[in-house]
Order: sequence, then structure tokens, then C-alpha cells
Amino acid sequence: MDGRRVILDDVGHSFDPTGDDMLFRHLTMTLWPKHVYALTGPSGSGKSTLLSIIAGWVRPVSGTVTRIDCGRVCWVLQNPHGVARRSAVDHVALPFIARGEDRRDAESHAMRLLRAFGLETLAYKPFRDLSGGEAQRLMLARGVASHAGLLLVDEPTAQLDLNTAATVNAYLNNLSMGGAIVVVATHDPRTRDACTDLIDLGDWQKERGHD
Ligand SMILES: Nc1ncnc2c1ncn2[C@@H]1O[C@H](COP(=O)(O)OP(=O)(O)O)[C@@H](O)[C@H]1O
Ligand SMILES: [Mg+2]
Repeated sequence: MDGRRVILDDVGHSFDPTGDDMLFRHLTMTLWPKHVYALTGPSGSGKSTLLSIIAGWVRPVSGTVTRIDCGRVCWVLQNPHGVARRSAVDHVALPFIARGEDRRDAESHAMRLLRAFGLETLAYKPFRDLSGGEAQRLMLARGVASHAGLLLVDEPTAQLDLNTAATVNAYLNNLSMGGAIVVVATHDPRTRDACTDLIDLGDWQKERGHD
């Protein structure tokens, strides 16, 4: 994964068939592992769209996206989704078991990730007993466990109150511990500040609608 990166070259996108109303344009940058990129902009500015473009699910109307050594894509969405009766540690151990580890190794790897996201004392609690913030952190830990090369997180604190959101933001840095390229779409300034790098869509839409 030494060469892992995503190269965005002059990327622009529009859902308008005339192509006049560009959400963003001329976006040129390279994304690297070990960074946690905050992708910001107001609602409707194209954050989720750009995540899909980075993932390769949407083809931009202009420019190119080159993914080098990125492997699989993992999405973490704003609504935590788990199995009600299954324990927290099971949720994180499953991707390891799916890759062929025996249960003991998988659990010890899962416990390491639970610790990294502040969930070690909740390991054997069923998913349904976790609070909103705990469940969201579990989704982040599971995202790292997936060993995807690209970890795309869409609005992880959108459904949380300020205090709970802070408990999620405090752990965002650890999303890069598995070596993935991490991009977190957010309109929460505290989430933005918890990331290592900033992609502000506002910087790439200044000429919107003018030519
Ligand atoms: N598949 C689509 N077809 C048409 N318009 C879309 C589609 N997906 C998103 N849009 C529009 O593109 C704009 C950006 O959407 P989105 O990327 O979801 O923004 P954000 O995530 O920043 O809130 C919005 O105006 C949205 O309605
Ligand atoms: Mg969105």
C-alpha cells in the first residue's frame, strides 16, 4: 500500500444536463493514507457526490480520478446500523473472521479497535444497548476493521447532539490507523477541526454560475 493514493485532476461535476450549474470544478488534489480529510460545504454543495466520485461510483462530468492501490471501498453512514442482539465486539470481529482469522485472533484484533474508539468496556454489550454516539463509534471501528483502502464517512455526527458528537470527533483520527485513505464529509465545524486536512468545496465553486 506504499503507493496508495487518489489523484483528482481538474474534477468537476454537475447533475444539470446542460452542465452550466457546476457543483464544483477544477478540483485538483492527491489524497494519501494517514490523513483524515474533512470534506466541508453547506448542505447540497456536493459532499456526498464527491465521496461517490472518489469511490468510483459516479463519473465526474469533467476531469479524471485515478485510484492507485486503493482496494475496496468502505462507507460509514450517518445512521449506525447493527444487529440488535449481537455484541459490539462481534460487529468488529466479523470482518476479521470473514478474512479467515480464527475467532480468538479476530476478537483480539477487534478489541484493539474497540479500545482505539473508546469502546473497550462495552465490548460485550448488545448493539441495541449502545447510545447513539457509541453506536456511531462502533461503525467507525468496524470501518477500520474492514481493511478497505478507502474509508468514506458521510456526516458521522449529523444525528448527534453536541456533547455526543464530541465523543465521536475525539476518535476520528484513529480512522487512518488501518492505512486507509479517509475522507469525512461534514458540515460540523468540530468534526472538521478533528480531521488532519481540509477539503472545502467552497474553494472549488467560486465561479459557480458565472461562465
Ligand atoms: N443522483 C442525483 N441526481 C440529480 N441530482 C442529484 C443527485 N444526487 C445529488 N443531487 C443534487 O446535487 C446536489 C448536491 O448533493 P449532495 O452531494 O448530496 O450534497 P451534500 O452531501 O453536500 O448535501 C444537491 O442539489 C442534490 O439535490
Ligand atoms: Mg450529503
